[in-house]
Amino acid sequence: MSGPRPAILPRVVFLGRSLAEYQRIWGLSPGDLIGQRVLDCPCGPAGFVAGCRASGVEAVGCDPVLALELEEIRRLGERDRLDTAAALAASDAVLASHDPEAWNLEKTRSLRTFLEDFAVHGPHGPDADGRYVAASLPNLPFADQAFDLVLSAHFLFTYAPAEAGGMVEAALAFDLQFHLAAAGELARVSAKELRLYPIYAADSGHPRLHPFLEPVRGRLVELGFATEVVRSGYDQGVEGVPDTLVARRR
Ligand SMILES: C[S@@+](CC[C@H](N)C(=O)[O-])C[C@H]1O[C@@H](n2cnc3c(N)ncnc32)[C@H](O)[C@@H]1O
Repeated sequence: MSGPRPAILPRVVFLGRSLAEYQRIWGLSPGDLIGQRVLDCPCGPAGFVAGCRASGVEAVGCDPVLALELEEIRRLGERDRLDTAAALAASDAVLASHDPEAWNLEKTRSLRTFLEDFAVHGPHGPDADGRYVAASLPNLPFADQAFDLVLSAHFLFTYAPAEAGGMVEAALAFDLQFHLAAAGELARVSAKELRLYPIYAADSGHPRLHPFLEPVRGRLVELGFATEVVRSGYDQGVEGVPDTLVARRR
């Protein structure tokens, strides 16, 4: 691959965006979601579920890491924030507008917000209410069409092999078969809409849609969804290509 060196991550990182970042990614605020059942998969240590629940939205987050004890989750969150910052610093494909200090502050706050909410409302918390579920794609423990809206950020496409536009070495990456199975599973639990972000290849010197996008789109169409690609207001890197796949059940 020629051009700028993309950030290569050491693993699928347990790193979460803030509620404000989620709002920019999806163009949605909790107020838009009242009355909807919403799934964030994988949620990582993001602030979205806590923010939605605070506004009365029936949001659920799932992630395999949620099976661990609180202190271990905290340790993974802190380790992966540092490892991701190091990977970004070693890459020359990061936007000139990237501000490492602001990035670090926002991710630290997201982790804190998530941990505080998980401690109270997670499976072992004093007010456990099912908002956090330990689960791994491609097999989710939810009924068919259990959610109106399913959101999935920074997982599919991002963790494809680096040679195929992802951010991890091939041995640690999810292949196309996994992507098709995972997209099918996210579609199964969605009654109305599924959104995936980002859908571009990580080698941002050459803006292009991810090579797995069209097969994933094809699978969603086979499953009865109409799809479109759109551009979000969350500009984290690749100029000139759409960054979000929206799939609506026909
Ligand atoms: C970078 S985080 C994304 C978190 C959040 N969606 C965001 O955008 O900030 C990726 C997450 O994928 C989770 N993960 C790893 N393997 C998974 C799997 N097989 N199924 C679902 N999630 C997985 C990790 O635990 C991690 O929290």
